[in-house]
Parts: sequence; C-alpha cells; structure tokens
Amino acid sequence: MRVLITGANGMLGAELTDYCQQLGYTVIPTGRQPHLIQMDITEPRTVRAVFEEYRPEVVFHCAAMTNVDACEQHPQQAYRVNAFGAEVIASQCHRVGAICVAISTDYVFDGKAGRPYHEYDTPNPLSVYGRSKWLGEQAVQALCPRHYIVRVAWLYGRFRPSFPQFVLQQAQAGEKVKAIVDQIGSPTYTYDVAQRLLQLVQTDAFGVYHLTNRGPVSRYEFARTLLQWAGLPELLEPIPMSAWQTPAPRPAYSALISWRLEWAQLPPMPTWRDALRRFLKQMGYTAPHDENAHPAHSDGNDADDDLHTNSD
Ligand SMILES: NC(=O)c1ccc[n+]([C@@H]2O[C@H](COP(=O)([O-])OP(=O)(O)OC[C@H]3O[C@@H](n4cnc5c(N)ncnc54)[C@H](OP(=O)(O)O)[C@@H]3O)[C@@H](O)[C@H]2O)c1
Repeated sequence: MRVLITGANGMLGAELTDYCQQLGYTVIPTGRQPHLIQMDITEPRTVRAVFEEYRPEVVFHCAAMTNVDACEQHPQQAYRVNAFGAEVIASQCHRVGAICVAISTDYVFDGKAGRPYHEYDTPNPLSVYGRSKWLGEQAVQALCPRHYIVRVAWLYGRFRPSFPQFVLQQAQAGEKVKAIVDQIGSPTYTYDVAQRLLQLVQTDAFGVYHLTNRGPVSRYEFARTLLQWAGLPELLEPIPMSAWQTPAPRPAYSALISWRLEWAQLPPMPTWRDALRRFLKQMGYTAPHDENAHPAHSDGNDADDDLHTNSD
C-alpha cells in the first residue's frame, strides 16, 4: 500500500510515518522540512505534482495550523491551511483515486452538551481553529467520497513534546504547573490513533469517526495521575478555566466517544489510563500495574473510567 502523509514532521504525522514503515508500507512523508518530500498543502500546483508523481492509495492528512491561539490571531492563515489546504488535498485524493483520511478535532464542538460528543452530534465551534477545521471537514466530504474524517483530541506522543512531557519536565525541575480542573476532554496517545487508523482504512466504512482514548478526564486529574505514576512530586496548582485567559475560547467539555467504531466492527480504543501507562513506560518510567486494567498494549477497559462518563 502506498501511503502519503501530510504534516509528516508533526506529532501525529511522525507517529504515522513510523508506524506505516514498521508495517512495511511504502511511505511518502511530505511537509515543509528539508528531510521530507516538499509539499506545502496550500500550493495546489505543488500538491498536484506530488500526487501525480507518487500516486498514493491512502492519504493521511495530518498537516494543520494547530496553535489554537495563533489561529485566533491570524484567521486568514488558519483558514488557508486548515480549510483551503484540506480542499486541495481532498480534490487531489479524488483525482488519483486515493482514500482521504482527514484528521480533525474535538474543538469543532462548543462543549456545552455536558456529556461526551459522538459522531452524530452537530459541531458548533467556538474558535477560528475549530471553524477552520470544520470547514476542512466539509470540503473533504464534498470533494472526495472515499473519505474518513477522524476527530482526535488532546494528543500526546513520543515524537513531539506536548502536555505530559511539559508536566514531567516542570516537576523534575521542581516547578509548579497550573492545571485546569474544569476543562474536561479525552487525552489521546498518538500511537493508539496510528494503530486504529491503519485498521480503519481497511474497512471501507467511510465517514466520520471519533478516535480518542476512552474516559473523560480533566487536565488536572490527568496531570496528577501522570506525576503519581511517574513517581514525581505532584507539583500542581489546580485552577479554574476562568483563570486561564487565552486569545481563543476553548470548549469546557469536549470529551469524545465513538459509536461508529463499533459499527465498523473495530475494537474500542484503549482507555486514557491504559494509554498513559504505556506512554510512561515508553518514556522510561515504571508506571504501576493497575489491577483494573487489562495487560498493557491491550484494548484494556479500566473499570473506573466509566465512573467519570457522563454519557447517555
Ligand atoms: N495536538 C492536538 O492536541 C490535536 C488535538 C485535536 C486535533 N488535532 C489535529 O490532529 C492533526 C495532527 O496534529 P499534530 O498535533 O500532530 O500537529 P503538529 O504537531 O502541530 O503538526 C502539524 C504539521 O503540519 C505541518 N504544516 C502546517 N502548515 C502546513 C502547510 N501549509 N503545508 C504543509 N505542512 C504544514 C507542520 O509543518 P512544520 O513542521 O513545517 O511546521 C507540522 O509538521 C491536525 O489535523 C490537528 O488539527 C491535534
């Protein structure tokens, strides 16, 4: 299988590149960095030429302007990359007959439902980032019938530092971290996304999917568990969302659940605890064994996670 990855230098793109290479696929990693096949997704002629030359069968579209506050401050750039860029990729996928897997976000929702969002909930983004990603979704739906739109959330992984690495680093330096107690979401390990995406593209069950680790959790609780399991002092300052002023508004409750994964006959995603435990192990920590969890790397369903679920 010939797999083209946009944003191959990013957190998810790098994970997917690595995972596809491990599976023995022909990988075409694209992006703007010198070590990649040069492809700016906002340049239609360049994208067309790359697709012409490499004729991908599957495209994982991971490239995006992901800095939510920068999107708010530079909306034209955000729409250009996240909406127009998705149009360019989707139309070229359709032209060469490739499946388009477009990665989207929990920030397409406004967070007012007070329960995890499923694939049939209607987006209502609060920010430029969320709107630009939702427009990107709509372009993919309109321009490439053989598509998967895959919403992920609160990503972390080994290829790029993000929230967990920041928390670990600060704790090791003896610095306190402010962690929000009333922002609830679905922290998700990029390895689990990569694994499930490669299963999903074999199904031909096209459409929208939510692909996150299971179990809603607050930023604070996630950080506390992380430090506890890493054996580091819990140097956390719990703060409310209202005390964290940012240019872009964020949904207070953007946890996701998936109905369609089950209907596509794929296993559920691992819980956030199971994922975090494996991530810590990979980072060289010895996370304690959780008696409620299935063995690591399984699709373990930690019993207590469902207690946090406020779904229907
Ligand atoms: N991170 C999260 O928590 C999160 C949450 C929900 C959804 N998502 C979605 O998941 C996907 C992957 O996110 P990520 O965290 O892996 O992103 P990331 O680490 O910020 O990587 C994004 C990549 O896109 C590339 N890019 C930006 N503009 C481009 C352009 N015009 N042409 C070509 N490449 C361009 C960047 O290239 P450079 O390296 O050259 O800058 C970067 O490699 C995105 O669609 C994002 O919206 C992420």
